Amino acid sequence: MNKTKITVRNNGSLFVQGEFELVDADGNVFETKPAISLCRCGLSDNKPFCDGSHKGNFESVVKAK
Ligand code: FES
Repeated sequence: MNKTKITVRNNGSLFVQGEFELVDADGNVFETKPAISLCRCGLSDNKPFCDGSHKGNFESVVKAK
């Protein structure tokens, strides 16, 4: 079984690859693709997806220890 991979992008989104289901707080399923970017900055007009609004407006670099 392939694990779903989520990459925390520097100054950007959460990049999700693999098999997953994305639902809202009521359990309704979002239509998705095999790889998606989820907004981590809060600026997207297309939440929960990233629309590129983070570029130049968001700084966050996190590293796993
Ligand atoms: S992370 Fe890209 S718009 Fe928020």
